[in-house]
Amino acid sequence: MLGFSLQSPTYMYLFKKITDLRRYLDLQKQAGKTIGFVPTMGALHAGHAALIRQSVSETNCTVCSIFVNPTQFNEAADLAKYPRTPEKDIDLLLQAGCTVLFMPDVSEVYPEGQLAPLKLDFGYLDQPMEGTHRPGHFAGVAQVVKRLLDIVQPDQLFMGQKDYQQFAIVQQMLALTKLPVRLTMCTTVRETDGLAMSSRNQRLSSEQRALAPLIFQTLREAKANMHTEWPEALKKAARKALSVEGMEPEYFEIVDGKTLLPVDIFEDHETVVACTAVRLGDVRLIDNLVMKT
Ligand code: PAJ
Repeated sequence: MLGFSLQSPTYMYLFKKITDLRRYLDLQKQAGKTIGFVPTMGALHAGHAALIRQSVSETNCTVCSIFVNPTQFNEAADLAKYPRTPEKDIDLLLQAGCTVLFMPDVSEVYPEGQLAPLKLDFGYLDQPMEGTHRPGHFAGVAQVVKRLLDIVQPDQLFMGQKDYQQFAIVQQMLALTKLPVRLTMCTTVRETDGLAMSSRNQRLSSEQRALAPLIFQTLREAKANMHTEWPEALKKAARKALSVEGMEPEYFEIVDGKTLLPVDIFEDHETVVACTAVRLGDVRLIDNLVMKT
């Protein structure tokens, strides 16, 4: 257990071992404190800070985990290239008012023999979009989030709308496992030009970075035209708009906000979300925009 007090007026506990973390959190629970949990893979930015701040404002003790989960990477190169910036992360967490940072090693999260994925039926939720393009990804996400929840045992879990399908998977995982955790969705934090903040943005070249705002512009364009165009036409136009030199759309879908099934007629659905993934060189970015609630 280590306490940090850098320039910031506050301090934070850092735990690497489950037993130490549990000892601390059990004391907090006994003292009647509510626990908020923000799981991350590090390389933290203002989007993560917003999640931490929301947890700090709604619970008594905020736990952030930084764990680059190997089981959710379907490309070994993506895992190897995932940015790791622990000192910067600690500064950001201190500034955001985080109480506890949990930074376990892989062997702590997955002791030998415990690597088997969770066998949960997500129905259609893990099939489209990221499910199609990143096979096995959501099984890895569900596995690690369940494992981390079993370790942290929070009252409230905070996750970003930025990863809309991931949120839907975790929501379903909580329903299936009946874990007593309240899940809260936090809105996407963007750069001033609209690009959704992402740990992957730092891997963009300056040319790619200049192109990247086109993603959010295209999502907004689709939403702006939803009263005059069919979803099919909007998707086609969006894919065309995103197919520029240096950028390649993987998908642009307009889906039901709950089932993630494709939307043919807006009026048939209560909530509708446009979701997209694009590739800029070897950097893959995702974003989404709620079109109708
Ligand atoms: P990571 O990509 O680090 O994201 C951690 C959390 O931050 C997720 O809930 C994500 O939706 C949220 N987030 C990311 N960018 C955001 C932004 N621009 N605005 C608001 N929130 C944002 O998602 C993961 O890690 C992992 O899959 C994880 C859930 C930790 C499991 O390993």
